[in-house]
Amino acid sequence: MSRLVVISNRVAVPKARGAAGAQGGLAGALNSALKENGGIWFGWSGGEVDEFTGEISLQSADGVTTATMDLASQDVEEYYNGYANSTLWPLFHYRIDLTEYEREFGKGYERVNERFAQSAAPLIEEGDMVWVHDYHLLPLGQRLRARGLKNRIGFFLHIPWPPTRLFVSLPYHERLVRTMLDYDLIGFQTQEWLESFLHYCRKELGAQVDEDSGRIAFEGRIVHARAYPIGIDYDHLQQQASTGEARQAGQRLLSSTRRRTAMLGVDRLDYSKGLPERIDGISRFFDQNPDRVRDLVYIQIAPPSREDVASYRKIRQELEQKTGQINGARSEVDLVPIRYVNKGHSLAELCGFYRAAKIGLVTPLRDGMNLVAKEYIAAQDPEDPGVLILSRFAGAAMQMPEAVLVNPHSPDDVSHAIKQALDMPTEEKKRRYNALIKTVRQDNVQRWTENFTSDLAALPRT
Ligand code: G6P
Repeated sequence: MSRLVVISNRVAVPKARGAAGAQGGLAGALNSALKENGGIWFGWSGGEVDEFTGEISLQSADGVTTATMDLASQDVEEYYNGYANSTLWPLFHYRIDLTEYEREFGKGYERVNERFAQSAAPLIEEGDMVWVHDYHLLPLGQRLRARGLKNRIGFFLHIPWPPTRLFVSLPYHERLVRTMLDYDLIGFQTQEWLESFLHYCRKELGAQVDEDSGRIAFEGRIVHARAYPIGIDYDHLQQQASTGEARQAGQRLLSSTRRRTAMLGVDRLDYSKGLPERIDGISRFFDQNPDRVRDLVYIQIAPPSREDVASYRKIRQELEQKTGQINGARSEVDLVPIRYVNKGHSLAELCGFYRAAKIGLVTPLRDGMNLVAKEYIAAQDPEDPGVLILSRFAGAAMQMPEAVLVNPHSPDDVSHAIKQALDMPTEEKKRRYNALIKTVRQDNVQRWTENFTSDLAALPRT
């Protein structure tokens, strides 16, 4: 088995995650794959310096080596806050209205991808398998090839790939996608994003595309594109859910809600998560069911994210305003309908909250996968499971049709789903839960890692 070199923007695992699944589970799974193969994980340290030096800091623990570098402040501004999070992120989440097309951002993105290639290349040995992650590093494969690397290089996109009609609004879109064709294997979360990518390659590049196998032939190069839906680290989550910390967190939540049903949302504070729309749905529920205000308390855990980007500051303000409004209008001296928490929490605490909350509300407007939906199910009590309300626009909905699926843009739909969840008979809850837990347990993150890396290893190098 070849050694694995993982390259992603972030390497460090935030201690208090508080939201957004991927980091913890992904780190765990990649760590175990790296451990087996004695690999390296390379990325940005999260640190900023005045001038980029390219100096790498190496750390080894449990057979895994992490290699990180600092970026210059200008890099962080143009590459991370700029092209990655003000251009690609909104565009790939179908938010063309929020997408910024600054020339300097594009230049910074190319410069930083070149810096990644320059710093990572010396760490890669012949025979290593390289696995690049996410939208920050779309052109990295090509930058590595330009340095003579002949290794197998795979890429996985954790977020959606937008429809061609939206994607072509990106200046130099063709140049960007051409760089991606230097990978051997490109993975997407769902069939839908995969199809959009294949459609683009066929229509805009004139590549030869075999839809069934995902084989793309273009200017003498062959690349394969396939769907690999990511899962959670189920065993790790179970273990965290059985800790004293998880039990205490659950108790704390339950004792504070008394006889009211706790409904929970856990999200990074990001406009793609549909948080103001969710509050509108909850508000509609209270309007339509005034006698049930005392039955329900909504807890929204939303740690702030990417605060140097204006659209993130704006969504935070909007959410604060909406939450304030509905609480002002609906609270009684002994009752507050919405609790809004900006703090992050450990996975163990989240597991306790998930289990105590009898409704999990996961309603992104667009999401590559959404692992909170899977974590919520994994943490439930099989004898008394809660109900998952899930946006049909999350990648997770493709694998979790037994959740109560909603259109997050429709307050009526969200309101109706909340009522359905509150009134759902235990038998139906169990039936849905049993189907969902099977998928969550089986299609876990270890299987995802194994599927992607074994496919990459099996592809012929052209
Ligand atoms: C999403 C992205 C990840 C990213 C994470 C947290 O899940 O797909 O690549 O690491 O959000 O965002 P941040 O900007 O803090 O890394």
